[in-house]
Amino acid sequence: MQNPSQTEQRIPKNRIVIFGASGDLTKRKLIPALYRLFSRGMLPKDFAIIGVGRTAFTNDAFREHLREALDKEMQAGDPAVGFCACIRYLSADPSKSEELAPLAEDMGSGGTSLFYLATPPALYAPIANSLAELGLNRQDEGLVSRLVVEKPFGEDLASSQLLNEQLHRHFKEEQIFRIDHYLGKETVQNLLVLRFANTIFEPLWNRNMVDYVEITAAESLGVEKRGSFYEKTGAVRDMLQNHLLQVLAMVAMEPPACISADALRGEAVKVMRFFRPLNEQDLDDNLVLGQYLRSRVQGEEVAAYREEMGVAADSRTETYVALKMFIDSWRWEGVPFYLRTGKRLPTRVTEVVLHFRKTRHPSFHEDPPANCLIIRIQPDEGILVSFGLKRPGSGFQVEDVAMDFHYSDLSDKPMPDAYERLLLDALKGDGTLFARSDEVEVCWSFVQPILERLKDPGHSLYGYAAGTWGPQEADQLLATAGHVWRFPCKNLTHAQHCAL
Ligand code: BG6
Repeated sequence: MQNPSQTEQRIPKNRIVIFGASGDLTKRKLIPALYRLFSRGMLPKDFAIIGVGRTAFTNDAFREHLREALDKEMQAGDPAVGFCACIRYLSADPSKSEELAPLAEDMGSGGTSLFYLATPPALYAPIANSLAELGLNRQDEGLVSRLVVEKPFGEDLASSQLLNEQLHRHFKEEQIFRIDHYLGKETVQNLLVLRFANTIFEPLWNRNMVDYVEITAAESLGVEKRGSFYEKTGAVRDMLQNHLLQVLAMVAMEPPACISADALRGEAVKVMRFFRPLNEQDLDDNLVLGQYLRSRVQGEEVAAYREEMGVAADSRTETYVALKMFIDSWRWEGVPFYLRTGKRLPTRVTEVVLHFRKTRHPSFHEDPPANCLIIRIQPDEGILVSFGLKRPGSGFQVEDVAMDFHYSDLSDKPMPDAYERLLLDALKGDGTLFARSDEVEVCWSFVQPILERLKDPGHSLYGYAAGTWGPQEADQLLATAGHVWRFPCKNLTHAQHCAL
């Protein structure tokens, strides 16, 4: 380790080793989440956080580098000093095992090592090799070794299969924790409780009652400083292949026999195998790709994607994707699922909307609105049910009203951050909220036809003004079946298309 003080010579038995420690994820997500766990006494005793990276930090310089992130978390009187003392830094090229040798010191006496790969994906396999060369993948004599792998897990089916194979050479599947931080979100996990712990929803949750389902993950920000990463990634790889398909699996799966890693992931893979494969016709008719254009958003000039740092002036990378897809299971036969995600949309919102079939009754003069169940993943997390009510007064006119629940009403129970939950689960060895190798591969295999289409330089890519809901073609995707998107606002209960 760089510049260890006397008391820092021995490395504690329990270690969270973060590769890619000088990167953004460590500062923005991992360290704050670890701090919150620490301050609630949820980290193991005798533990250290060891940042590994090529940047030549000393322990103190690394702590200073993290200070800004920590300052935001800390309240007066918090145990900041104790937490900082647990943080160390190793300046090393992680693909060279000899440079990681200090991590192998003091091993042999038991303890848990969590190796968190927050590096560019090209380093995942070399790091796994280096760890194995040092025996740091061992699971004997009281030693526990786990690998946490950030997304993207591969860039297509073949590369994800190769990566699985490379990691499996040194680590067993139960040692590997593939992060999809959407699974760490409280509101995503609640899909299981909402569906399977309530009598009133599950009987409606099928093709007989549901007309169509929307899943939206909208972001108001552009690609920020990640232009060069995003150029090679795009919305399909960045959001659709992982977060949206995982949320879809939670919405559509059959009840697992119990909430265990095997049972839950088994059901997720099962429903994913029912996703109807996309053929050329689907790609023509049911897929809309877009890229944001320069625009004025709430009085401010916003750059086009092609003007962002690290982005080619003639880039054809998609910053928006909308897809109509089907799940050919008994439960969902014929029900369209519409998925969309994009950058520079009007607001940041993720939600699932179940639109129920309309009822018709000759006594009601108007066409009554269909019932909707809106599950708001973020922000203003909550649930809203809309239903028809007799408009007070003469006659039988129907008006759409809503009942809503907001997590913010549970003021005594703050929403834990996704990374907090996932880090804790990885430390405990609970893989329930992590993607299994077959799950990742099934998702890649489903999106593979889209990736092939993206290789075609002439594929359709529609421009949309920054700050709007994406290309109009995405509205057409629904209109052909008489469906419409919900245009949500920041607040769950606000009317659609409200001022944001
Ligand atoms: C990440 C993507 O996985 O998820 C980002 O790489 C995206 O591009 C982010 O902004 C969205 O996560 P959240 O939790 O803010 O919805």
